[in-house]
Order: sequence, then C-alpha cells, then structure tokens
Amino acid sequence: MEPQHRFLRALQRLPVDRTPIWIMRQAGRYLPEYRATRERAGSFLTLCKTPELACEVTLQPLDRFDLDAAILFSDILTIPDAMGLGLELVEKQGPVFARTVRSKAEVDALPIPDPASDLRYVTDAVSLIRRELHDRVPLIGFAGSPWTLACYMIEGRGSKDFASAKAMAYGEPAAMQALMDKLVTATTAYLNAQIEAGAQAVQIFDTWGGNLTTDGYKRWSLEPMQRIVDGLIREHDGVKIPVILFTKGAGNWLELIADTGCDAMGLDWTIDPAMARRRIGDRVALQGNLDPGILTAPAEVVCDEARRVLDAFGPEPGHVFNLGHGITPQINPETVGALVEAVHAHRGPAG
Ligand code: CP3
Repeated sequence: MEPQHRFLRALQRLPVDRTPIWIMRQAGRYLPEYRATRERAGSFLTLCKTPELACEVTLQPLDRFDLDAAILFSDILTIPDAMGLGLELVEKQGPVFARTVRSKAEVDALPIPDPASDLRYVTDAVSLIRRELHDRVPLIGFAGSPWTLACYMIEGRGSKDFASAKAMAYGEPAAMQALMDKLVTATTAYLNAQIEAGAQAVQIFDTWGGNLTTDGYKRWSLEPMQRIVDGLIREHDGVKIPVILFTKGAGNWLELIADTGCDAMGLDWTIDPAMARRRIGDRVALQGNLDPGILTAPAEVVCDEARRVLDAFGPEPGHVFNLGHGITPQINPETVGALVEAVHAHRGPAG
C-alpha cells in the first residue's frame, strides 16, 4: 500500500506535491517552550524518562511549524544508560557517564537491556506520541550507531577525537568487536521495539563514523549498522518502515552506505547534493543538507540557500529536506518558520 504522507513517500522515492522537511534536533533548546518544559521536568533525563513530557516536547515544534515528520524526543545514550553506565547530563559539558568501558572484561560484564522493561519509558513515549499525533505526520524513531555509542561509553563523555575509543579499536580489537556485537543486538531490539510501539520510520545517528579511516569505517561503523539494518522489522501492520542511515562526514562512503539496504541516507552539509545524486542515482532517497551554521544569518539568506540546496538535489523524487546536522540552541525560531515555508513553497527551476 502506498503511503500518503509526503515524508514517507519521499523515503520510498515516490512523487510528492512538495519536498518534505524535518529538522534534526527540532525539539530542543532554541524553543522557549522546550526550555520551559525542561525547567518543569527538572532535568533532561527526567524529560526523556517521563512519557507525557517526552510527548509534550516532541509535539512542540509541530505546533509552531508545518513540519512533515515528528521525531521521538529521547537520546541515543539511553542504551548505554540502560546497560548500567549511569548517564548524567552536566550543564555546559554535555553527557557524562559515571562508569566507562575500557577492557574486554568490562565489555563482557555489560548486560544487554531488554527494551520491554529497561527501556519501557521509550516505547511508552512512542505509543503516546502516536496517539496524540492523530496521524497528522509520521513519527520517526531513532538510535545511535554502535560506533557512536562506543565512543561515548569508552571515553565516558564527549570529546573532539574520541582517542580512547580509537585506542581500543586499534589496540584491543577483540574487545571492540565484543562491544560492537552487544550494541548491535541491543540496538536492533531497541529499534524493533520502537517500530512495534508505532515508529513509522527509523534513523540511525552515526555522529562519529566520519572520524574513522575508510577501513575503520567499514569495520567499526558500517558493518555494525549493516547488521542492524538486516535485523530490523521492515514492514509493520502491512506498511513499509523505512530506515535512514546518517553518518556525519561520510562523503567518501556514499556508495557503501547505499549498499547496506537502507532506504535513505542523511548527508551532512559538506557533501554536494548534485554529486551525491550522480553517485547514488535512484538507489536510495537522500536527506539533507543545509549547513546548520547558516541559521544565524538573516531569514532571506537562509531561504535563498535552502532553494539552492533544493535545486541541487534536482527534480527526481527521493529528497527529504533537513539540516546537515542538528539545530543549535542560539537559533531564532522565526528563522526556522521562514525556512519551512520556503521549502514548501519551492517549485524548482522549471516551475
Ligand atoms: O532530533 C530531535 O529533536 C530528537 C531528540 C534528540 C536529542 N538527542 C535530544 C537532546 C536526538 C535525535 C538526539 C541524538 C543524539 N544525542 C546524538 C546524535 C545526533 C547528533 O546530534 O549528532 C548524540 C551524539 C547525542 C548525545 C548527546 N545528547 C549530546 C552530545 C548532548 C549534549 C548536546 C548539547 O547541545 O548540550 C545531548 C543532550 C541532548 N539531547 C539535548 C537534546 C535536546 C540537550 C539537552 C538539554 O536540554 O540540555
């Protein structure tokens, strides 16, 4: 059965009336209503772990802007948290774990979370959001890539180069492989639980895959994502569930990503959309890729650049407009409103 929503149609490379748009981190600190709910929750993690509050913030950007998809409000670090590493979000520092994973023995001791109990707050949020959306737009579920999760689990916090994760990959590959195996199992079960609870598409965020060499990317980032793609529920209640892979910094590896069997790939802003189209053709849909750094410029500049990006992707079906990475806290919501309107109003060079 063909989907009606333009976001799901574009992911299947079906014709659409307008290019669909959603924005990575669309529910976040640039919205005053988000900051108010977070204040009320007391902490970011309470927000994530309380389905009613997670649902409320998921819907906030949709009440303001004519976006074509909702994304579950949660975080990629829920899995390591459920493995017992003790996640905390420290103001101005980002995520910090109480415990790190640095040896094969520590990897072997990690439990694989059961999504039905340990991550029940996530699937409860998914079902509640689906109920509250009344099919206005589709809901995207998500998880982090095993490599990106490993970076935070080994380092214990954010980092510019994730040197300790690389040290394990190069120095203790058996430990890294064991960690990947656990994360593949955990993430596949987690995403399938989101799909069974009502997620209509899923995206894997591979924020740090671009830090690897080509061989390293194939072994530590792509291969584990491939195994997840192979294990996902691809049709639920008779409807296709598209999978989007987003590796930041993947310009070298577009063909490899398309070959995983995913339905779409996210492109960061460094990638020329026309080149991506030439290389990928109609093998998968493409998502992206406005530079998030432009959003502090005047709205007309942002809208002109958005039209340039739309034209560069060309008239073929199979484009979902997005930023090349997440929106940052200092952005004026009015600029986002103008961007969404400009994308929907655009008819392409011919029309
Ligand atoms: O896109 C959405 O609107 C859904 C929500 C979402 C969040 N995190 C909420 C969040 C998603 C999809 C994520 C994914 C995520 N989390 C990634 C991958 C995507 C990416 O941006 O590359 C990563 C690497 C993380 C880990 C993480 N969580 C970091 C590094 C931080 C700190 C970032 C910062 O700007 O402080 C978080 C916290 C976080 N996750 C916030 C939000 C809205 C900010 C928390 C707050 O309210 O203070």
